[in-house]
Amino acid sequence: MSGLHHVGIAVDDLDAAIANYEALFGASVEHRETVPDQGVEAALLRVGGSRVELLRPLEPDTPVGRFLAKRGPGLHHVAFEVADVAAELARLRADGVQLIDEEPRQGLFGLQVGFVHPEATGGVLAEFVGR
Ligand code: CO
Repeated sequence: MSGLHHVGIAVDDLDAAIANYEALFGASVEHRETVPDQGVEAALLRVGGSRVELLRPLEPDTPVGRFLAKRGPGLHHVAFEVADVAAELARLRADGVQLIDEEPRQGLFGLQVGFVHPEATGGVLAEFVGR
């Protein structure tokens, strides 16, 4: 575990959220992309040596859309950077931890990712991101 890779935030308006993070925290956009099969438009922002991922749902009936409807804008997930996503998922699976992804998959911005269920963490969705 090499530390936090990013914090994921669900937003209603991506342009407004980017402008807000730029004005409040001096953030700059590192990547921005629309991923129809994941139902999101996303921006990865850089703030110094750290990153914030802003997520806007493309439709209400998507994972982030359902999250927004239920909980409103705000913290969506916390992502930890690891050397080997498959190994981390296998380690947790062997311990009986509730996972969303049994195997690594292609995440946003070409990253290899795997998600841990919020039930396992006390309420916050957790993501592993490969280096
Ligand atoms: Co993420």
